[in-house]
This record gives sequence, structure tokens and C-alpha cells, in this order.
Amino acid sequence: MQLRPARPADVDAIATIWRTGWIDGHAGHVPSALADHRSESDLARLAAARVDDTTVAVVEGEVVGFVTVHDDELEQVYVAGPARGTGVVSALLHAGERAVARHHRSAWLAVVAGNVRARRCYERHGWRDAGAFTYAADTGAGSFAVPAHRYVKTVAGASR
Ligand SMILES: CC(C)(COP(=O)(O)OP(=O)(O)OC[C@H]1O[C@@H](n2cnc3c(N)ncnc32)[C@H](O)[C@@H]1OP(=O)(O)O)[C@@H](O)C(=O)NCCC(=O)NCCS
Repeated sequence: MQLRPARPADVDAIATIWRTGWIDGHAGHVPSALADHRSESDLARLAAARVDDTTVAVVEGEVVGFVTVHDDELEQVYVAGPARGTGVVSALLHAGERAVARHHRSAWLAVVAGNVRARRCYERHGWRDAGAFTYAADTGAGSFAVPAHRYVKTVAGASR
């Protein structure tokens, strides 16, 4: 598995992983109207806008996961189904933490309460649940209020 900066040519693969993972992690746990803004083409538009802030994990030439960093936030963390449980997420989280550490002492991310798999994964990687809050999910046409938990991690020193 290799990590590299995302390129515009990766956008379709990123959107496919994002769409499947969004359903896996969010269906039933977020206001259903948000799903109207999470089609594969919506996600491709969002992925294209963030491509310079995205790192992809690649196995045998195929993109199998990605992390997107916006300021001090790990904005998206997604692993394709077959690559889950293989350690890809550890590499992506580390890459995201290193990127945030270039300019900030701590990082944060939002996760919906019902996404227990993701929450356990973050906790195993040293992230702490700092409590419930309302996350403004970007839809590309304004933001959407989503009840979520804020997870935080001190990343100072992670850039080395
Ligand atoms: C959240 C995510 C990035 C974590 O990556 P991961 O590779 O699944 O993480 P882990 O390897 O830590 O596995 C998480 C759990 O799933 C289990 N698991 C791993 N592979 C599995 C598989 N193929 N089938 C079922 N369970 C599996 C692990 O044993 C672990 O379970 P546990 O918490 O009970 O111990 C990934 O599951 C994903 O992309 N999910 C959909 C998108 C999403 O929710 N993103 C986060 C938004 S905040």
C-alpha cells in the first residue's frame, strides 16, 4: 500500500469510495434529507474541490481509501470495503495528522453518533470524544446541520 497526493484523475475513484462508505457509515444516523446531497456526482464535485487537500491510499494501482484535510479538520476519512480492517485507515489517519501538524497543535473531526465502527477506530488511534455538537456538513450548495460528535487529538510533533 502506498500513500500519495490525490490527482484530478482520482476524483471518480474517490467519489465511488465516498458514496459507498457514506451509506455504510451514515444511513439511518443522519437526517435523511442529507442523502439528497450525497449522490456520487455531488461527492465527485466536492472531491474535485478538495483534491489538493486529499491523500489517497493505493494498492496495486487502485485507490482504496482517502483522507481530506481542511485547516485543522480531518474532513473525510474513507476506506473501500475490501480494504477495511487491513491497516489502510491507520496510514490515512497518520497522513492526515501529519498534514494538520504542519500548522496546528491539535486536530479534530466529526463523526455521527451511530457510526460506531468509525468511533471505535478513531479511539484505537488515540482520538478522544470531546462531546456532541452540530456539524455543518458541506453540500456544495450551503451547509447542512448534522448531529455529531467531535473527536480531537493532539498532533504536535506528528509532522516529523
Ligand atoms: C471508518 C473506517 C474508515 C475505518 O476503517 P477500518 O479499516 O474499517 O477500521 P478498522 O480496521 O479499525 O476496523 C473497524 C472495525 O471493523 C472491524 N472490521 C474490520 N474489517 C472488517 C470486515 N471486513 N467486516 C466486518 N468488520 C470488519 C474491525 O474488527 C473493527 O471492529 P471493532 O471496532 O469491533 O474492533 C471505514 O470502516 C470506513 O471507510 N467506513 C465507512 C465510511 C466512514 O464511516 N467514514 C468515517 C466518517 S467519520
